[in-house]
Amino acid sequence: MTGRYKAPRGTQDILPEDQPHWDFVREVAARISKAFGYEAIKTPVFEEASLFTRGVGEVTDIVQKEMYIFNDRSGLDLALRPEGTAPVCRAYLEHGMHNLPQPVRLWYWTPIFRYDRPQAGRYRQHHQFGAEAIGDSSAAVDVEVIELLWRLYEELGLTNLTLQLNSIGDGKCRPHYLEVLRDYYRDKLDRVCDDDRVRFEQNPLRLLDCKQERCQPIIAGAPPITDYLCDDCTAHFTELTALLEAADIPFTVNPRLVRGLDYYTRTVFEVIPPEEGAQSTIGGGGRYDGLIELLGGRPTPGVGFATGIERTILNLQRQGIAVPQRDRPRIYVAIQTPAARVPAFRLASDIRRAGISAVVSTGDRSLKAQMRHADALGATYVAILGENELAAKSATLRQLADGAQETVPLIDVASRVGRANAR
Ligand code: HAM
Repeated sequence: MTGRYKAPRGTQDILPEDQPHWDFVREVAARISKAFGYEAIKTPVFEEASLFTRGVGEVTDIVQKEMYIFNDRSGLDLALRPEGTAPVCRAYLEHGMHNLPQPVRLWYWTPIFRYDRPQAGRYRQHHQFGAEAIGDSSAAVDVEVIELLWRLYEELGLTNLTLQLNSIGDGKCRPHYLEVLRDYYRDKLDRVCDDDRVRFEQNPLRLLDCKQERCQPIIAGAPPITDYLCDDCTAHFTELTALLEAADIPFTVNPRLVRGLDYYTRTVFEVIPPEEGAQSTIGGGGRYDGLIELLGGRPTPGVGFATGIERTILNLQRQGIAVPQRDRPRIYVAIQTPAARVPAFRLASDIRRAGISAVVSTGDRSLKAQMRHADALGATYVAILGENELAAKSATLRQLADGAQETVPLIDVASRVGRANAR
């Protein structure tokens, strides 16, 4: 029995059995964000499309190939959120957050939409946990967000992750580097892929991010951007690496690391799990000191990261990390006679009011079928209400694990079953 519809390609249902992983990651993410002084923000699922065209960059895959764009009934160009940073910056401006103590520290947990080629770990709807610190340009804030991300993975129990780090300069030094890079590529254009020829013209930094096999030796020989940083960017990067060392966060400088979004300045970073593969990066981010100005605000620095929840969970599973199990009802209330239906209903109500989860039998199952049902739901106890129990204002309380049984007055059932690790 499958019905005629399927979830759209590249999307997935997150079923009850998947929730323990999702709950675990979310709980740790929320707790760590709080520990670092970050506050939650939620922005709409769709925004004006130009927020991303302008913010993320016209000549990026995200904008050119992956945005879900649509016109609403008034003809407005809207886009499903393809990333979380531009919306947060839009909200920062819209709500005058520059009047708050800076940096403003925000975190989000949100669905993201990209018309990507679906494969393991790559979806058209995925979810991100991200954090942004807006309004402070010091390297200490870069380290803070990197540390937050690192602590997340650490607390989740993930191991063997690599933090790759680079500085891609700023408006002062990058234009010169791009010329150097173009000079280097100019006589190699017959050997690179078609996309690279377009990148050469439109967005040369992205040449370093090409995944085609035949472009790799050329990338390997490219001049490293770190040799072309201006004094201010060099000083920022030097301080950043010193602070990371002080914070005991291991990192590798990869002078060829660039990211798929155009708003970055100076710091960029990615966290890579042990497995190989182009879409293996589980988290990434960097500094975006020009973004707020691009969106119409006064020059305001910012830095942040996002990590893909699906990829994080994939890595938890690959590394065999156990997560807290699904919540099961503590007690199932079974009835042996129709006359018990109302008292059973009331008993379940009272138990829930005491903060303990209870499921009450519905329909006309036999007692035996109700016991099987309770077992299938994973209940710890069954309270059975039959003629005798009703007369005695009590219930027969059975522990499903060992079948141990006792008679308990109705008013004592909640405290009796709640005694051991009640929810
Ligand atoms: P991003 O690197 O494009 O950065 O995405 C962040 C993470 O989202 C990736 O590392 C990956 O785990 C996950 N991800 C991306 N695309 C997919 C996909 N198609 N399927 C599954 N997972 C995916 C950003 O979006 C920036 N806004 C991060 C940032 C925040 N930079 C500064 N602040």
